[in-house]
Amino acid sequence: MRIFRKSDDLMEFLRLNHVDGLKLGFVPTMGALHAGHISLVSRSMEQNELTICSIFVNPTQFNNPEDLAKYPVTIEKDIDMLEASGCQLLFLPDPSQIYPAGYQARHYDLGYLETILEGKYRPGHFQGVCQVVDRLLSIVNPDILYLGRKDYQQCMVIARMLTLTGRNITLDFVETMREPNGLAMSSRNVRLNESDRVRAIQIYRSLQWLKKNVKPGNLSPLKAEAVQQLTDHGFEVDYVEIASAESLSITEVWDGREPLVALAAAFCGPVRLIDNVTIS
Ligand code: PAJ
Repeated sequence: MRIFRKSDDLMEFLRLNHVDGLKLGFVPTMGALHAGHISLVSRSMEQNELTICSIFVNPTQFNNPEDLAKYPVTIEKDIDMLEASGCQLLFLPDPSQIYPAGYQARHYDLGYLETILEGKYRPGHFQGVCQVVDRLLSIVNPDILYLGRKDYQQCMVIARMLTLTGRNITLDFVETMREPNGLAMSSRNVRLNESDRVRAIQIYRSLQWLKKNVKPGNLSPLKAEAVQQLTDHGFEVDYVEIASAESLSITEVWDGREPLVALAAAFCGPVRLIDNVTIS
């Protein structure tokens, strides 16, 4: 695997290889890689001649400085995992490569996507995500961008950013990879202690419970019950919501036909976990 630390070196390499007409798949990450990340890499490897992964803990998307300071960094292990996956290229920039002197952050008009769910609880987060992904795309210019459905709202936000910026890049959303017990894999899971790790499964259980019990009509009592389940298990809940799977607008009353997604964010001890389950 070739590792690039400088944007210019990577751009030059890609420019030369594109001359050969190779299809390029891109998997942006913040490192602390797990099997979920690698499933995106594997998918890209199946669909493209060249796959590039980036690892960059993007400071502008952390609304909470403590979350940034505690974000796990396991770079040696990450490189080993990527090597084992067969990934051909890794972009490992430092902040000066992504945000060079004179970089001007633009504002992305994300509309209500930015005021609900993660947008509501993490102000500024999605502007930071758009900034970094937009900048990475300007360097990598892939054919296909791979994103995980685990971050469902992020998928929608990036789709919107691509429309806003007019970038002609295909999006591929990949299913959430879970531990055998159902817990969605996440870099933040390493910060869970042993008992919290067991308790954390309840997020997925409550989302599955919603999926099983959802009926046409008013969804508020169902959401309240799911919040109660999580609270009973010692979670501090930010939200449990049911929304249109397509637009992510919050569904208060369901017509029984519209495809839905149930989403939750809650603190399990000191760690904030998010997960979602589609209902169709
Ligand atoms: P990060 O949390 O490292 O995730 C990188 C990619 O892996 C995202 O597209 C995410 O949705 C996906 N992913 C995470 N856990 C997954 C799982 N259990 N199964 C499948 N895919 C999973 O998301 C980010 O980084 C950043 O916001 C980023 C897009 C890189 C911008 O900084």
